[in-house]
Amino acid sequence: MKLLVTGGAGFIGSNFIRFWMKEHPQDEVVNLDCLTYAGNLENLKDIVENKNYRFVKGDICDRDVVFEIVKDVDLIVHFAAESHVDRSILDPSAFIRTNVLGTQILLDGVREYKKRFHHVSTDEVFGALKPNEPAFDESTPYDPRSPYSASKAASDHLVRAYYHTYGIEMTISNCSNNYGPYHFPEKLIPHFISNLMDGKKVPVYGDGQQVRDWIHVDDHARGIDFILQKGKIGETYCLGGDSEITNLDLTKILIKLMDKDESYIEFVKDRPGHDRRYAIDFSKAKNELGWEPQISFEEGLKDMIEWYKEHQVWVEHCKSGDYQKYYDEWYGR
Ligand code: NAD
Ligand code: DAU
Repeated sequence: MKLLVTGGAGFIGSNFIRFWMKEHPQDEVVNLDCLTYAGNLENLKDIVENKNYRFVKGDICDRDVVFEIVKDVDLIVHFAAESHVDRSILDPSAFIRTNVLGTQILLDGVREYKKRFHHVSTDEVFGALKPNEPAFDESTPYDPRSPYSASKAASDHLVRAYYHTYGIEMTISNCSNNYGPYHFPEKLIPHFISNLMDGKKVPVYGDGQQVRDWIHVDDHARGIDFILQKGKIGETYCLGGDSEITNLDLTKILIKLMDKDESYIEFVKDRPGHDRRYAIDFSKAKNELGWEPQISFEEGLKDMIEWYKEHQVWVEHCKSGDYQKYYDEWYGR
């Protein structure tokens, strides 16, 4: 089989390619990525020599490039996106372009050449839960509240619209917060690990009582594999890590694992429109596909901290782009 993976130089896409090539060594993988600040070919250094792997530097909004590749593959797994909520608050434009328009162009290619499409989406499309409300599942109504989640919700709707209108073969996964190797140091866990490694404080937004559900990126990759092998066309599957925790409690665990103390916590102004709680009920994936997360949050976090300590050159590379400029803008400096 031949796969197109979009956004394969990013955090989850690169882990997915590594996972896929190990589990399905006979398959060919084309990675289409335009290498934004979040795309890094170092994420795939160990894959580059594999004769079944090919990288194409290109934009999913470029119809000619997309059609040329789509016509020659069997299956598309679509990760490419602008993914950071805070950046979407500073400027939504790139999010609408890539996440909405880019997805539509891929879908046009899928429709034209009749290929199977898997769309990688997020639990953020469902909005925010109150403390005692049941977790999100596949029947939860959409209620996106940030420019990022609105752009992902729009792309989910487009994928379903192409299924109903044009009969494309598609599946969707909505997953909770990923963590693991190659996690770009702008997101909570890697940002805090990186700051603590540098002896800097960690900025907790608001009161730190927001809740996220964390899933190891390898469990997410395996979940997508299960959907591709056993999922029903036209269906959506929610994937979660069964690890709900407040940001403040998570921060305290990170601080402890890194031999620091709580004087490293700095409460800063809250994210505008900050969603209070996400949680995922993944019983559909468990009952229909036999998938459930396997990596405990505690073990996964310890491994990630070790990985970060061993990859300081990689971390510095991530910070060499617009990293400082972005933080100056975010904190109004
Ligand atoms: P990321 O920001 O680390 O990587 C995104 C990749 O897409 C980068 O390599 C980037 O260069 C590429 N890209 C961006 N715009 C592009 C364009 N126009 N054309 C081609 N390539 C482009 O993101 P991630 O965290 O790996 O997320 C991957 C996908 O998973 C996204 O669709 C995201 O919405 C979804 N998701 C992420 C999480 C999470 O916790 N990170 C959870 C659920 C779902
Ligand atoms: O839920 C899935 C989503 O998870 C994905 O769709 C997104 O692509 C991914 O970025 C992630 O979004 P979040 O906004 O939840 O992740 P982030 O790591 O940015 O923030 C996690 C929580 O930590 C959130 O409540 C905001 C808070 N936070 C974040 C940062 C970066 C802080 O308190 N301080 C910080 O410096």
